[in-house]
Amino acid sequence: MVDRWAMGVAQAELSGPLPRRWAHTQGVAERAIEVRQVLGVEAGLLVAAATLHDVGYAPRLAGTGFHPLDGARFLRDEHGADERLVRLVANHSFALLEAEERGLREELAAEFPLLEQPLLVDALVYCDMTTTPDGGPTTAQDRVAEIVSRSATRSGRAARGTTVPTTTARSASSSTACSAWSARAVCSARSS
Ligand SMILES: [Fe+2]
Repeated sequence: MVDRWAMGVAQAELSGPLPRRWAHTQGVAERAIEVRQVLGVEAGLLVAAATLHDVGYAPRLAGTGFHPLDGARFLRDEHGADERLVRLVANHSFALLEAEERGLREELAAEFPLLEQPLLVDALVYCDMTTTPDGGPTTAQDRVAEIVSRSATRSGRAARGTTVPTTTARSASSSTACSAWSARAVCSARSS
């Protein structure tokens, strides 16, 4: 079963070196389970992507240092994972925006094109952006505020960084997607 496989892979890579990231991962997977009925036959894919979306943070997998790309390459090369799963992980939560700043946009887009299934893509954003770093549930607005403040702190330490504009753009996009997806999920749930 893909859920169990995904959980095993994520746990193996994250629970030891990055326990907080592992807690967040489990929370994002729980969000995916909560909303899976909206996805119908794609529910399993969403849960697997939610479980594996941050696996690229694992220190041993750091190739480019850009976790969506590192995670996707790991899943493709070491596990021969489903192509759509890999593309979801590579592009989760508007990864293209950050890839552009890192000079990796073309590489990411060519190697792992964005899936043309907006419901799945947005659902993954929703799950990620409504989960705290410790794995608890939160609102997209509070999560965006937390990310921006974290980035501002980092940027302040660096005196003059480029993290804030990118993160702000990414967070704003995430917030918009979350709002749209929440409305869609609520409508769907009401009609089911
Ligand atoms: Fe995440």
